[in-house]
Amino acid sequence: MGMLHYMLSEYLNYFIFVAQNQSMVPVEIIKKYYQEGTELYEILLEHSFSVADKSLSIAQVHPEMNLDISFIYEASMLHDIGIFKTNASDILCYGEFPYVCHGYLGSDILKEEGYPRHALVCERHTGTGLSLDVIIKDNLPVPKRDMLPESMEEQLICFADKFFSKTRPQREKSIDKIKKSLSKNGEDSVKKFDNWCRLFLG
Ligand SMILES: [Fe+2]
Repeated sequence: MGMLHYMLSEYLNYFIFVAQNQSMVPVEIIKKYYQEGTELYEILLEHSFSVADKSLSIAQVHPEMNLDISFIYEASMLHDIGIFKTNASDILCYGEFPYVCHGYLGSDILKEEGYPRHALVCERHTGTGLSLDVIIKDNLPVPKRDMLPESMEEQLICFADKFFSKTRPQREKSIDKIKKSLSKNGEDSVKKFDNWCRLFLG
């Protein structure tokens, strides 16, 4: 997977856009906030494409779930659009907000762009989702509302995202490694991930 891979995918997406009169090309929205060709742009696109690839390949083997394939592609590509507003120098983000805010910040951007359904994927993909209880208990600097993935598409993208870091976007993490890192958020988070493994990988 590299530059060529996602460029091809964007051409494919543009073709679908023309053929089906689809409402958006995700990379065109990303380009409004990220300078094409910069390292951060590459990091975001490579990670997002890995997540899209993973979630689409899962959707492909689960036709019985009747998932919205175009939406999964678009929302996977856009789920991390908020990262540039956060302060995470290891992935070249020099904004003012803590990284945990990137979900709802991305959500605000996509709502503003006119995509409220995609916005929900942004704000509901952190860890296995942030419940209002956890937000209050851990005093997280995010709006006080449940941010838990609900629709099957939201759950699938959240699940697929756990397999990819942004520092090593091409390498899929092992399930054990993911569970180990989720265990820091509590056993409920690990249980939820285990359920997703049964649902999506079973
Ligand atoms: Fe992500």
